[in-house]
Amino acid sequence: MKTLIIYTSQTGFTKKYAEWLAEKMNADILDLKDAKKKNAGFFNDYQAIVYGGWAMAGNLVKSKWFLDYAPSWKDKRLAMFCVGGSPNDNPDVETALKNMLNDEQRKYIKAFYCQGGFNYEKMSGPSRLAMKMFVGTLKKRRMQPRMKRKWQR
Ligand SMILES: Cc1cc2nc3c(=O)[nH]c(=O)nc-3n(C[C@H](O)[C@H](O)[C@H](O)COP(=O)(O)O)c2cc1C
Repeated sequence: MKTLIIYTSQTGFTKKYAEWLAEKMNADILDLKDAKKKNAGFFNDYQAIVYGGWAMAGNLVKSKWFLDYAPSWKDKRLAMFCVGGSPNDNPDVETALKNMLNDEQRKYIKAFYCQGGFNYEKMSGPSRLAMKMFVGTLKKRRMQPRMKRKWQR
């Protein structure tokens, strides 16, 4: 079965998963930027197409391109994987998997989650800033019960 793995990665984790998959499945691999340059006929050769991207605020980054194509690929095996910083057993993962596809898409696309990580050095400026704000909010939330106890004393 001729397989194509398409991925988007900012700091390298999704790229690594895409490479592992491509190696295991003896598949071709393309960065989404390059996949977008291909015309529709290019994909006719493939019996299976997988899209992998990273999680941002509970969503799979740049999945629109793949999901727009997907209805015309119903004769193929289709899958998506989302790489996030959350551990596999985090309850948010289930929510992210639900958000990835609607009921109709779920009938013919399989969705998976893979744990990635945080590489601040490779993050873009806006991403680093967003993470800083996110971590700040988490810290404040964790502080609240302690502060409450102090006030009650
Ligand atoms: C702005 C921003 C938002 C993020 N939101 C989430 C999230 O909602 N859930 C999650 O599990 N990880 C989240 N992450 C973590 C990334 O998904 C994680 O670092 C991933 O491994 C990045 O993949 P990449 O190395 O392929 O770019 C976020 C990261 C950034 C920068």
